[in-house]
Amino acid sequence: MSTYIKVLLYFFSIGILGVSCNVLPDAKKVSPTEQLADSTFDNHSYANIHEVYTKHVHLDLDVNFENKTIYGVARHEIVNRGTDTAIFDIKHLEIQKVTLGRGNEKETSYMIGKWDKDSILGQPLLISIKPGTKYINIYYETTEKTEAIDWLAPNLTEGKDLPFMYTQGQAILTRTWIPIQDSPTNRLTYSADVHVPEEMMAIMSASNPTKKAVDGKYHFEMKQPIPCYLIALASGNIEYRSLGNNCGVYAEPKVLGKAANELVDLPRMMRAAEGLYGPYKWDQYDVLVLPYSFPFGGMENPRLTFLSPTVIAGDRSLVSVVAHELAHSWSGNLVTNASWEDFWLNEGFTVYFENRIMEELFGKDVADILALIEFAELQDELKTIAKSKYPQDAQLKLELRGRNPDDGMTDIAYVKGAFFLKTLEEKVGREKFDVFLSSYFTNHAFKTITTSQFEDYLNGHLFDLHDLTFNTKEWIYGKGLPSNCLKIYSPRLENMKQLAKRFSRGEKIFAKKVIWKKIKGRKRRKKEILQLKRTDHITQEWQTFIRSLPSTVNAEQLAEIDQYLNFSNWGNAEVQYEWFIRTIQANYETVKPSIARFLTRIGRRKYVLPIYEELAKTTENKQWASELFQSIKAEYHPITRMSIEEVLSANN
Ligand code: BES
Ligand code: ZN
Repeated sequence: MSTYIKVLLYFFSIGILGVSCNVLPDAKKVSPTEQLADSTFDNHSYANIHEVYTKHVHLDLDVNFENKTIYGVARHEIVNRGTDTAIFDIKHLEIQKVTLGRGNEKETSYMIGKWDKDSILGQPLLISIKPGTKYINIYYETTEKTEAIDWLAPNLTEGKDLPFMYTQGQAILTRTWIPIQDSPTNRLTYSADVHVPEEMMAIMSASNPTKKAVDGKYHFEMKQPIPCYLIALASGNIEYRSLGNNCGVYAEPKVLGKAANELVDLPRMMRAAEGLYGPYKWDQYDVLVLPYSFPFGGMENPRLTFLSPTVIAGDRSLVSVVAHELAHSWSGNLVTNASWEDFWLNEGFTVYFENRIMEELFGKDVADILALIEFAELQDELKTIAKSKYPQDAQLKLELRGRNPDDGMTDIAYVKGAFFLKTLEEKVGREKFDVFLSSYFTNHAFKTITTSQFEDYLNGHLFDLHDLTFNTKEWIYGKGLPSNCLKIYSPRLENMKQLAKRFSRGEKIFAKKVIWKKIKGRKRRKKEILQLKRTDHITQEWQTFIRSLPSTVNAEQLAEIDQYLNFSNWGNAEVQYEWFIRTIQANYETVKPSIARFLTRIGRRKYVLPIYEELAKTTENKQWASELFQSIKAEYHPITRMSIEEVLSANN
């Protein structure tokens, strides 16, 4: 029996092709394709990568802003280990035809499987191939439901004259804009020919233009093998400015100057990163500042980090996001998590690395403040997870079968992961730990790694080498925070906590104070100054101040803070979102219009989702939030929109 038929039978047996699961109850035990599916080690992809995989994909893309559609051909150059069926992942794509060969293409038969239960994975696309097949060409178009693409009307850009579009592949959205074997297990190189309207620029996570092409035609090459979640495209009225010999920034013309100013430290960050863990392997490092709807703070697309404009705060106070995305050029992009259940290998290492870069540039004092801010978030998250339906989500190594990999995007992977490494560093000493990390990156460069492979490497290259023992298993498979977790102390944050306490007790911490100065030996009144100004402290100190206000603080007291510090209208979204949550809790109603403006302008999920969550806690606020959401939901990226929909539709 051919594999094609076997695979069909297998999918029938588990219900993917539409027949009841009861047909072959024992199929799990007997089906060879079961082992086949399992051996991909990826619960979030249908692809049979161990039998046939893409080595290089060439994309021919026509980006049509009017129809909000990409018309594409994905030309896969494959390695076939002898199967007659290649399985790809697709979700919300229209497949027109599939051909085999290059130059002389011949149509081949294909079959699209049934959706998974919760419509998370999409559908398997099964293509009939021959043992000698080298090229598979999938002709397709994206649809309205494509989750990876944000199509922005001109009014949602800063320039307001041209539309904008960008893609977001991680974790499993690449399959919604490219038919592909959408698993990080595989690495591939890619090239692309992209056609956009003439006045637009197109850029990708690849070699990029620095000027607009007159005909709207662009060619791209990504020569280093990458996991396919890192394929990314953006197009709009974009310009480029260099910031150093191999780095720079892309943004809309209106934003470019401000962005370049915010990111001046980029060359220093790159030098610091290379000094820590070895040469940057991707030649060029640029940052693209996106419109406000971008759902994340940053996304580490290789050679071209995608960045939220909320990072451009005007005072360089949020640039650790850039250090984070840059760090991914090693942890994540060079050494990649083999599956989304090993996500902490991407993010935990990156948060650790990010903090080291920040320490190099701004000192230990600031690095510790940043780490402590995150640590407080981790402690909250641990409490939430312990009470939730999935207490096992507190493990570094996740179990996400049947679930959306996005569920793993918590502070566990990020902060528990980073504190695991910080604790290891403390145990073995920085020098030895840095030698270990450098060798880890060198030895696994352009490879994927599972958690258990990492454990082996850790044992062999750190513990055995230095004759040490460590509670690694507890860190990776335990649900709490091990008691040996590194403790950080920041006098500056302690001071903010004290300030919050004094304020909540009714002390007039903002009142003006009188300064006396001796002039010609006589005591004279000089002037009245504010005791406390916003500029006296950095963003993260104010965050701590807000977090430390006890729940008894009422609307009147919050209004007093606003009177002096104007948090409600500070352009710094990192502080604003936490502030807004407090104002909702205290029924400080005057702020509602500012909240509405914030939710309308910003699409970064980390900021808007907690605000919606807080609003959803009372009937009246939920009503208000739902009405607002109805009127603006089309302006959010699908990722943010779907998360908010979940919050507002829950019955609580
Ligand atoms: N790779 C992530 C973003 C991501 C993770 C997108 C999983 C989709 C699925 C990126 O590097 C990231 O972690 N961004 C953070 C900022 C960072 C400073 C913690 C974010 O967007 O909040
Ligand atoms: Zn990250």
